[in-house]
Amino acid sequence: MTLIDLRSDTCSQPTRAMREAMAWADVGDDVYGDDPTVKELETESAALLGKQDAVYMPSGTMTNQVGIRAHTEPGDAVLFDQNAHVYLLEGGAPAAYSGTLPRLLPGIRGIFTAADVAAAVGRPHPFFPSTVPAPVKLLCIENTHNLGGGTVWPLEQLLAATAAGRQLGLNLHLDGARLWHASAATGIDVAEYAAPFDTVSVCFSKALGAPVGSCLAGPAELVARARRFKQQIGGGFRQAGIVAAGALYALRQHRSQLPEVHANAKRFAVTVSQMDGIDLDPAHVETNIVLFRLTRGSSAAFVDQAHRLGLHVLPSGADGIRAVFYLDISADDADRAATVVGKTLAAL
Ligand SMILES: Cc1ncc(COP(=O)(O)O)c(C=O)c1O
Repeated sequence: MTLIDLRSDTCSQPTRAMREAMAWADVGDDVYGDDPTVKELETESAALLGKQDAVYMPSGTMTNQVGIRAHTEPGDAVLFDQNAHVYLLEGGAPAAYSGTLPRLLPGIRGIFTAADVAAAVGRPHPFFPSTVPAPVKLLCIENTHNLGGGTVWPLEQLLAATAAGRQLGLNLHLDGARLWHASAATGIDVAEYAAPFDTVSVCFSKALGAPVGSCLAGPAELVARARRFKQQIGGGFRQAGIVAAGALYALRQHRSQLPEVHANAKRFAVTVSQMDGIDLDPAHVETNIVLFRLTRGSSAAFVDQAHRLGLHVLPSGADGIRAVFYLDISADDADRAATVVGKTLAAL
């Protein structure tokens, strides 16, 4: 029995062709700015995202946190959705690395409104000294939203929320780890989603199928500042062209396959949503992430039993389950995974 691994789209495996591209990549020392493959990836990513420059780093956590550091000084406040990856799942780095304070926005499945942004910043009043509160410097948005269930920001709402941030004098950072997925789901160009933001972080290692890495794109001056912070936290990774070649391959060859990945996630969700004991609206499955609730029993018992039966999924809170689809998971795997969900429910 082969285990179907739906814990995360980071579990994807590099293909043979990708490994070939990596094996023969031209490389140099990235710290000295010498690696031609890294440069090619940075140039191509910046162009795709409509930004002046980009910098390649080992992880999405690093591109997000270096981005936050580049926009802020210790003591500044940053606006995040209450379930943002940068806030909840990056080891406390906004506090530990940038010394920033989170101000949380009440997003629904990761999506909040312009009014939420305005309310979180508040209105200055001459009776109240502006030196008292931590100054809010940055608004972060996540598209698609991981813990929201792969939610895509509606473009109009994204434009309204970012315009509200701008009006309040904030800088804007997009955690676009899965921006490729938003674009594949809606047909809206990644550059259009990226346009309102100063900086954009994108990942190649999730459902795009590359083994390593992310780019932070933005204006040349900010990217230059980010390069300094990348070095400061040990992100200078020498002959990184080996892994950048995998990222370039993924960018060029794998984006077109994302609609199929989304279709497999939906196929699984539709079947599972019809099972007794599951709370899941398939309309909420917009991209490659399926989140569902158990109406009885605990998520811990469910994931253990599913694992024994051949399906690896993650708990999401006390009664939630997360299943993530990627290139290596076929339509047949999606059907087999749904069958295991049914058997798991029956066994509990
Ligand atoms: C939305 C989002 N941002 C950032 C990251 C961090 O990426 P990495 O695992 O490469 O550090 C993830 C990882 O899953 C993510 O889902």
